[in-house]
Amino acid sequence: MAKYTVVTMPGDGIGNQVLPEAVRVLKEVRFDAEYVHADIGWDCWCREGNALPDRTIELLRRHKLGLFGAITSKPKKQAEAELDPSLKGKGFQYFSPIVSMRQLFNLDICLRPCIGFPGNPLNFIRRRPAGGFEEPRINAVVFRQNTEGLYAGVEWSNPPQIVREALASHPKFKQFGNTAGPDLAVSVRIITRSAARRICTAAFDYAKRFGYKNVTICEKPNVLRETSGLMEEVANEVAANYPCIPLWSTNIDAQTMWLTKNPEDYGVIVASNLFGDVISDAFAGLVGGLGFAASGNIGEEVAVFEPTHGSAPKYAELDPPIVNPIAMILSAAMLLDHVGETEKAEAVRMAVASVIAEGKVRTYDMLRLAGNARVFQHGAANTTQMTEAILARISAPVQAVATHA
Ligand code: NAI
Ligand code: MG
Repeated sequence: MAKYTVVTMPGDGIGNQVLPEAVRVLKEVRFDAEYVHADIGWDCWCREGNALPDRTIELLRRHKLGLFGAITSKPKKQAEAELDPSLKGKGFQYFSPIVSMRQLFNLDICLRPCIGFPGNPLNFIRRRPAGGFEEPRINAVVFRQNTEGLYAGVEWSNPPQIVREALASHPKFKQFGNTAGPDLAVSVRIITRSAARRICTAAFDYAKRFGYKNVTICEKPNVLRETSGLMEEVANEVAANYPCIPLWSTNIDAQTMWLTKNPEDYGVIVASNLFGDVISDAFAGLVGGLGFAASGNIGEEVAVFEPTHGSAPKYAELDPPIVNPIAMILSAAMLLDHVGETEKAEAVRMAVASVIAEGKVRTYDMLRLAGNARVFQHGAANTTQMTEAILARISAPVQAVATHA
């Protein structure tokens, strides 16, 4: 019996194209695992009225490790329209299976590495004061709290009276007190000490394990005095246990400006839900965008790894597929890190780094082409060719390229 069982959830669209590529890579590094398919996404919704079927939940509960491609989601009206006729009008409601999965298994730590691989033509470059350009070496890892904050889902349009009364107990609500109910929308930003402690501790542990020089807490405590204030307070408490790793503190607005001024200065960044979402997308843009952005959703028991891109339905029908499998493959490398197979994870990242550095095999996004079937005429590799180039490097390892700090 294999040591691990990975629940593979390709989902919709290009999820079906990239996930099998990641499994090929895991097999190539001889990860001691077997793979069990699980259904998730839009097709499940249309057929069964549930985008995250119970059998998938059960598999995740049993095996604890998931690899997920991407799903399609559509607005409410379309969701109802595409539901199987036999299920229509029976009260089925669409919920995002990713959000459901995060809540169900309390996958509260979202981890998003943003590593600039040398040779990637999409990497951020900067003008030198003395003329010419330079490419800063970016290697940041964002730890985003995944279940609370402004995404906790506690919100109202036209809040009920009891909520209005509670809000009115705060002196600052006075200026909104006369706003008519239908003209008022409220989202609550909730931060708990325990979740703040878990995300900050995860960030410091990771910095220590992979040798990052600093951890930055990226919030806005000068304005969001209570919630960002609590995040900062906890970050400082946790930092005291890691005397060798300095804690920096930035405000989310200033941090986005500093991203393009000195992105190479940052190592691990920790933030609440919305700010972590913003800052990780911003960083991802500096290192190649969606084709390179991997992520992990980690709970106390279950962990699910996924590229941050969606199902890109426009490209899902193209044969051969054109999309970049690297984000998915790097997500699989994160799964390896998670279970302690650091050497195998590093072998995958080194193979990816080597293919990018050589620059011979590039998917359409790396050539800045518009995505369509004609990309091959302009020298783009297809999805499988990119994977195969990576597989070849794994079986014939080349000189080490350090991919962590
Ligand atoms: P998307 O991420 O699917 O695609 C946006 C664009 O990014 C694509 O048109 C393509 O140009 C590029 N792209 C995405 N993945 C790529 C890859 N691997 N290689 C090269 N280029 C790539 O986002 P979009 O179009 O906004 O949403 C499409 C569907 O995906 C929607 O139904 C949306 O709800 C869903 N979605 C799902 C996510 C998930 O499963 N985690 C995340 C984001 C969107
Ligand atoms: Mg996002």
